[in-house]
Amino acid sequence: MRNSGNPPRSPFFKRGGRAAVLGVCLVATMATSLARADTPYVFNPPKGFPIPKVPDDNPITLEKIALGRFLFYDTRLSGNQTQSCSSCHQQDKGFTDGLPNAVGSTGQMHPRGAMSLTNVAYATVLGWANPLLTSLEKQTLVPMFGETPVELGLAGMEEELLNRMHNDARYERLFAEAFPNDSDAISLGNLVKAIASFDRTLISGNTPYDRYTQGLDDYAISDSAFNGGRLFFSERLECFHCHGGFAFTASVTSQGNPFDETSFTNNGLYNIDGKGGYPLNNTGLFAFTQVPSDMGAFKAPTLRNWKFTAPYMHDGSIADIEGVIDHYAAGGRTISTGPFAGDGSKNPFKSNFIRGFTLTDEERQDFLNFLLSLNDDELVHNPRHSNPFNAWRCPGDCGYDGEVTIDEILSAVGISDGAANLALCVAADRSGDGDVTIDELLAAVNSALNGCASPAAVAP
Ligand code: HEC
Ligand code: HEC
Repeated sequence: MRNSGNPPRSPFFKRGGRAAVLGVCLVATMATSLARADTPYVFNPPKGFPIPKVPDDNPITLEKIALGRFLFYDTRLSGNQTQSCSSCHQQDKGFTDGLPNAVGSTGQMHPRGAMSLTNVAYATVLGWANPLLTSLEKQTLVPMFGETPVELGLAGMEEELLNRMHNDARYERLFAEAFPNDSDAISLGNLVKAIASFDRTLISGNTPYDRYTQGLDDYAISDSAFNGGRLFFSERLECFHCHGGFAFTASVTSQGNPFDETSFTNNGLYNIDGKGGYPLNNTGLFAFTQVPSDMGAFKAPTLRNWKFTAPYMHDGSIADIEGVIDHYAAGGRTISTGPFAGDGSKNPFKSNFIRGFTLTDEERQDFLNFLLSLNDDELVHNPRHSNPFNAWRCPGDCGYDGEVTIDEILSAVGISDGAANLALCVAADRSGDGDVTIDELLAAVNSALNGCASPAAVAP
């Protein structure tokens, strides 16, 4: 695991042959003093972002994150082993699934769409409109065991699930490392803690907008996007009231934040019968409170990374960003025929900030350019968030930066002799058996010597 910036590659590696390889292993074995305790994870949020809150009973560690990443991508987490969290939260789609409504492992359709996990560490409440779901730990149980609708379909299968984990040597090791004080580390509570820890690392703040506003690059956004930003933050368009702040959503919290801000609002999507009604299976906050004015109130999702997360709204009923702009420009949506017919702009429960506006063609283009500047391509390509079951092309490249350093070789050696945690370099365990064998070590050393892309490094 490399722990500092980007040190130049040791020339030592460039010259070496097999003898040097063995030398490295030997030195490493002697020099390694890595203790097998868990390793606190230090958030390094983008400039301008606060530090996320983490529950006292689930301090975040590298070991939990490494374990949670495997679990997030593991289809053994569904009853019929067809789906994992990542089936509905796909990295290349900003951790959504591209569908208007999510579809569970048994084919049941969810009334709502999968939500983006961008910056979910900062969310005060989870889900489109559930005021009771306030921790990622609790939230994880919903897709696993929920029956209305069935998502992962694990209800009644808790023991079977834990058996599946026990039957996997890599999980035995990763659970034990993540929860070193537990005699039986493989438990449902620990599984949930690990997944929540992984969720908390999905932080995204490297957009052109961020580079510009943080003073890192004055040219990161165009003049047009700059002008569009003025519209976004204006009392004319009002977007910022509900999609404001660093996370571009109102319902956020962080360490040291005295107020958890949570809001659910009605943005005028429906108005069935002219009485403010929403489709019966999607009444928003009303479903929890039964307070009439809560009809149609939903959490305003983050606008970060929208480029990857279409279609939009809780039920995916707006296909693209142009449709979203039309929706707000009209001050609500009018549906002229069918069971949901009604003029959303006249919904009595609609927020006062949804008032409608007109834009010139130039303004509309500026506005779109601003919205485009809120997308962070890094999140969808970051290998640390990627599927760990896909063999990484570079054995031993613990930090996923395309080269193997001496520190990384040391970690791999430490793992193989039991002195270091596997979580520090899952990329060294190519076979997935929870250990780093001599062959795997040699593969890692090969990557160091010959570079990651070389055939030798990619070989088994
Ligand atoms: C069948 C598809 C599906 C699967 C599988 C699934 N999710 Fe989701 N996820 C959704 C949907 C749909 C929502 C919105 C739920 C709602 O509000 O009704 C959601 C919401 C969330 C949220 C809330 C995000 C926010 O901004 O409030 C988190 C976090 C989350 N899922 C994590 C997970 C994790 C972790 C797993 C695996 C244990 C998982 N999901 C499995 C579809 C899925
Ligand atoms: C009164 C608060 C409010 C204002 C003002 C507001 N929104 Fe929203 N926005 C919401 C809510 C609530 C939702 C989710 C509604 C739903 O799904 O029923 C939403 C959803 C969205 C979505 C869909 C995101 C997704 O992941 O599905 C986009 C995009 C969006 N708004 C953009 C904007 C823009 C652009 C503006 C300004 C023109 C704006 N919003 C103004 C509250 C607001």
